[in-house]
Amino acid sequence: MKVIATYNIKGGVGKTATAVNLAWLAAREGAPTLIWDLDPQGAASYYYRIKPKIKGGGKRLVQGKRDLDDFIRGTDYALLDLLPADFSYRNMDLFLDKSKNPVRQIRKLLRPFRKEYYYVFLDCPPSISLVSENIFEAASAILVPTIPTPLSLRTYDQIIKFFRQQGLDTTRLLPFFSMVDRRKELHRSIVDAPPKHMENLLQTAIPYDSNVERMGAYRTPLAEFAPNSRSAHCYEVLWEEIKQQYRRE
Ligand SMILES: Nc1ncnc2c1ncn2[C@@H]1O[C@H](COP(=O)(O)OP(=O)(O)OP(=O)(O)O)[C@@H](O)[C@H]1O
Ligand SMILES: [Mg+2]
Repeated sequence: MKVIATYNIKGGVGKTATAVNLAWLAAREGAPTLIWDLDPQGAASYYYRIKPKIKGGGKRLVQGKRDLDDFIRGTDYALLDLLPADFSYRNMDLFLDKSKNPVRQIRKLLRPFRKEYYYVFLDCPPSISLVSENIFEAASAILVPTIPTPLSLRTYDQIIKFFRQQGLDTTRLLPFFSMVDRRKELHRSIVDAPPKHMENLLQTAIPYDSNVERMGAYRTPLAEFAPNSRSAHCYEVLWEEIKQQYRRE
């Protein structure tokens, strides 16, 4: 089981779009895949047409009082399951804090699935919190979509510094440029000469493309309605690059 998180402290950078599209690609290739929507906004659940609701709320789920299995739902796609969000996830930090090992609870909850799923995608809310610390413990790859602007680069710097402070392995952080608009001189200059602190920067960038926004109208992954779009192609290339990283291990 390979756990892949999409994470950034910043909101609206393409975390959910990435998790939704990559999970679809993984399942299409024949790998049993789970996507866990950890964001109380429930966007990944929405894209997969699954009601963002956990019976009894996130507290019982996080505290391991009920099998995670009971909450997992099938999607419209073969081999692709989803663990929905719940609005109570906004209190996830409190639930985690009460568990025995507050930073390793998500990792623990996923353990029983290690034979069932080949990939687990964690779609994280934008913040730095106990939830993020949990995903840093649970994930072997942490994809960080980064818009090529100075403020976003600064945010990435904060993430890498946090990893160093906590003694976490920074090689698991895999940033990539997201929502790139090459008509903008600023975007071009950053993408063409990325800063040194983005050590493991993936080569593939996802362009700004209104097709990605249209996923919200179609409520399907991109490749279902715009398979020939540039962004759909870029997600495929990005996915290949991520799998290469795993092969290198
Ligand atoms: N490559 C792209 N081109 C154009 N629009 C995009 C692209 N990626 C994402 N978007 C749009 O930008 C918005 C934010 O994207 P998304 O929800 O994936 O980001 P997020 O980081 O998960 O946000 P949040 O922090 O709120 O969870 C959405 O409306 C989405 O459709
Ligand atoms: Mg999101």
